[in-house]
Amino acid sequence: MSRPAKALIDLEALRYNCQLANSLSPNSQTMAVVKANAYGHGAVPVAHALTDLVPAFGVACIEEAIELREAGIENPIHLLEGAFSNDEISIAAEQHFSLAVVNQEQKRANLNANPSTPLRVWICVDTGMHRLGLAPDELTSTYRELATSNNVAGDIVVATHFACADDLENDFTAIQLTRMTQAADELQVPKSFANSAGLIGWPDTRADWNRPGIMLYGSSPFSTPHPDADRLLPVMTFTSAVIALRDIQPGETVGYAATWKAERPTRIATVAIGYGDGYPLHAPSGTPVLINGQRCPMVGRVSMDMITVDVTDLPSVTIEDEVTLWGAGLSVNEIAACAGTVSYELLTRMPRRAPRVYING
Ligand SMILES: Cc1ncc(COP(=O)(O)O)c(C=O)c1O
Repeated sequence: MSRPAKALIDLEALRYNCQLANSLSPNSQTMAVVKANAYGHGAVPVAHALTDLVPAFGVACIEEAIELREAGIENPIHLLEGAFSNDEISIAAEQHFSLAVVNQEQKRANLNANPSTPLRVWICVDTGMHRLGLAPDELTSTYRELATSNNVAGDIVVATHFACADDLENDFTAIQLTRMTQAADELQVPKSFANSAGLIGWPDTRADWNRPGIMLYGSSPFSTPHPDADRLLPVMTFTSAVIALRDIQPGETVGYAATWKAERPTRIATVAIGYGDGYPLHAPSGTPVLINGQRCPMVGRVSMDMITVDVTDLPSVTIEDEVTLWGAGLSVNEIAACAGTVSYELLTRMPRRAPRVYING
């Protein structure tokens, strides 16, 4: 038997979530965001599974775009942070990658480049996130410079990104949207605003292009229930198995630093998963796992390769029983909340160690 830790990736669930994203905004085009190795799910298999459902993919850097091209993905690929050097502009032209233009330096680099074919560009406007993008009052002049350059071809898309769309009570999304519409008032151009939270929770942000990421992988962008987000299906099920069982007496402690103490005669199951596999070190005692579909509390500190679970109330547990860390039946959002983080971090930080096993492809 090989080490049982693995991440099952359900490609049918991925496609279902993508179809849900498409159906929420049927007149829009979906750019599937597959950066960071498709949020840990494997960019190449994910892109292959979505290639007929979306017109384009979004990535953070040219290496991610090249990986997809080399794997035979022919869809347009968009670099969400633009080109970091003149070499990258040349590669983008050759490989038909579209480029975000996030500041005046990138604009000038695109205008002064000597691309083998004209560039496709999206202008990114900073409407309040204050991370990347041109100031709203720079949009019209920047658009005109790019649109009249021989270096640029096709529709220029105008984009912005929301800071608080995951908080449905927060009116900052509406404020950002107003800033964007005012800035783009004079321009008849395609627009792109919505990430997953915008697409699901803020219908006014749906535009010519939507850019969902996390929802494709079945994780709700919200921390409270939402009827559409709750229809998403988990794509990754992170599983392992029980590799040891022992009984300990009240007063005995478990794990590094002896942080957890038994208060009753306790049966401890050791599970082959740890922070070296991507399970969060900071998951506290009490974080649930599923053993044979039943919730049990993880106890003690997470080790590099193992965790320990109190299975006293589940006397039927035996060695080799399957354990779900998150996924089907136990949402990654719940585990992230226990560990004081977000699903994005848990998913994107999954190392290669736990093999991805693709199912329903
Ligand atoms: C510019 C941009 N658009 C879209 C997305 C996708 O966001 P989400 O995963 O929240 O849908 C991201 C992700 O961080 C992003 O940076």
